[in-house]
Amino acid sequence: MSQNEPEPTRAANEESCNSSAMVHYAEDESGQYLEAYGHKFHASGNIYVPFDEEEQRHMHARHKLLRTCLGGALTSTRLPPDTKTIVDIGTGTGVWAIEMAARYPGSTIMGIDISKIQSSVVPGNVRYLIADIEQPWEMADDYADFVHMRDITGGIRNWPGLVSQAFRKLKPGGVLEMTEMRTTIHDFDGKFDDADICPSFTKLFRTLYERVNMDFDPAPKFPEWLHAAGFENVKQRMEILPIGDWAKDDQLRQRQKLVNNLVMQYLGHHSTMIFAGAGYEQKAFDEQLSAIKRELFDSQQSKPYVMAVFTTARRPTTTSDLAPL
Ligand SMILES: C[S@@+](CC[C@H](N)C(=O)[O-])C[C@H]1O[C@@H](n2cnc3c(N)ncnc32)[C@H](O)[C@@H]1O
Repeated sequence: MSQNEPEPTRAANEESCNSSAMVHYAEDESGQYLEAYGHKFHASGNIYVPFDEEEQRHMHARHKLLRTCLGGALTSTRLPPDTKTIVDIGTGTGVWAIEMAARYPGSTIMGIDISKIQSSVVPGNVRYLIADIEQPWEMADDYADFVHMRDITGGIRNWPGLVSQAFRKLKPGGVLEMTEMRTTIHDFDGKFDDADICPSFTKLFRTLYERVNMDFDPAPKFPEWLHAAGFENVKQRMEILPIGDWAKDDQLRQRQKLVNNLVMQYLGHHSTMIFAGAGYEQKAFDEQLSAIKRELFDSQQSKPYVMAVFTTARRPTTTSDLAPL
C-alpha cells in the first residue's frame, strides 16, 4: 500500500468483502439490506452499487446523460419500428424500459433486476422480473429481438457467461447492446492511457474489485467476450464525457454540465461498498474522494474526461453455432 492510501482499520477478507465492520445488515419496510456509509445495498452482498433513493436519482441523471450522447435516442442500435421482444438486463428503476415502451408501443419489454426499485406506474407493455441476471433468465431460448444491458458493472462476476446467455436468448439475427461508463479517468491532452488522472485511486479501486472477483472497468474486454460467444458485427462507439470547464463546442459543453453534476456521485457510489467492505473508515474514504475532486476540478492544466462506451453485436442468423452456456 502506498503512502497516499489510508490504512484499512481492519484487514480485508479475501472471501467476503462484506465482513468488515463498516458494512452491516439493516432492515426497513422493503426488507433486509446491507448498509455501508449510509448507502443501501442488496442483502446478498453481491451487488456493489447501491439501490437507495439517492442512487435512483443518479440513475435518472445518467440516463439523461447517455441519451444526450446518443443525440436523444434510447439506443445506439437502429431498431426496426416493429421490434417485438425486448429485454432490459439490470433494469434499475425501469427508466429506459418505460421510455422504450412508449417509443415501441407494439413491443413487449421485460426488465430484470435483483432489486425491487421499479416505479409502480408500469406501461401495459412492460413487465418486471426480480431475479439475479447471472442466473438463467426466465424466458425461452431464441426469445428476444433486442437485449439491452446498461450500467451494470458492479453486479457482474461472470461477463462471458452473461454474454453467452444473451446470445442464446436472442433470436438469430437479434441484437445485444451493452453500455457502460468507464471508471478510468483520462486527460484529453495526455496520452490515451488508462487513468492518467487520479492513478492511485484508480489502482486501488481496481485492486479492491479484483479481490472480490469483479472487473471494475469491463467495457474494453466486451469485443473479445462477444466474439467468443459467437456474436458478429461487434462494434464499439466511445463518447467523451468532459469534466470541469474545458470543453469548447456546444455539444460537449452540454455533456460536461451533466457530467460535472454526477461524476463524483458516480465514482463514490461505485466504490462505497468496495472500500467499506475492505475496512476503510468513511473518513478515509471521503478523503480519497475529496482528493479526486480537487484533481478533477481545481487543476487549470488538465482536461479530464471519462468515456461512455456503447457496444453492439448481432447473433448470426445461422443457428448452427450456439454458444455454450
Ligand atoms: C446502476 S443501475 C443501472 C440501471 C439501469 N440499467 C439504467 O441504466 O438506468 C444497475 C442496476 O443493475 C442491477 N444489477 C446489477 N447486477 C445485478 C445482478 N447480478 N442481478 C440483477 N440485477 C443486477 C442493480 O440492482 C441495479 O438496479
